[in-house]
Amino acid sequence: MKPIIAPSVLSADFANLQRDLEMINKSEADWLHVDIMDGVFVPNISFGFLVLEAIKRYCTKPLDVHLMIVNPEKYVQAFRDAGADYITVHIEACSHLHRVVQQIKSTSAKAGVVLNPHTPVSSLEDIIADLDLVVLMSVNPGFGGQKFIENTYAKISKLKEVIYKTGSKALIEVDGGVTGDNAVKLVGLGVDVLVAGNYVFKSDNPIQTIAELKNIKQ
Ligand code: DX5
Ligand code: ZN
Repeated sequence: MKPIIAPSVLSADFANLQRDLEMINKSEADWLHVDIMDGVFVPNISFGFLVLEAIKRYCTKPLDVHLMIVNPEKYVQAFRDAGADYITVHIEACSHLHRVVQQIKSTSAKAGVVLNPHTPVSSLEDIIADLDLVVLMSVNPGFGGQKFIENTYAKISKLKEVIYKTGSKALIEVDGGVTGDNAVKLVGLGVDVLVAGNYVFKSDNPIQTIAELKNIKQ
């Protein structure tokens, strides 16, 4: 199976967003990853509903919306209305994770949970059966262009076990510092979705870079 490729729009040129979205539309990208940061949960602020709505108007690929915000339950419906197809929330930001996951599903969006690098995979055991997607952060969230954290490989293997044990259908997504070098190993370990920001958008030929990631064999 070929991996699902989700370029992260955080690394796009926001002064030429329509141009960059048209590139994504033409490419072999499967999804577009959209990072929402509130300056509270993470030490950076990205953008909100108006930009997401604008992205939705031009982008023909499903939008994978990664909420790096506190109290995500307040905004789930609004992000769905603005165009999110996948909504992922951080386990570290949710006191009532089960409720938030059900809330996402009630909007008919796909629901995912994100784990920061320090959060153990075992914390998902009692929720994983309800999830469409698990996102392992392979950098500390907040910024594009950071270095991949190697411990992620061990977490992938543990997550595979939890998924197997529970019969969950959740896809495994890895987000942060993905490059052509580590992507081969990630896909080999069973990662379903590769997010790539800088590696795609700062490359000389983003369409070709996306195609190379897409054609990594498991
Ligand atoms: C980090 C974001 C990532 C980021 C990935 O907080 O969640 O999605 O955009 O960018 P790269 O691939 O450049 O690390
Ligand atoms: Zn992200």
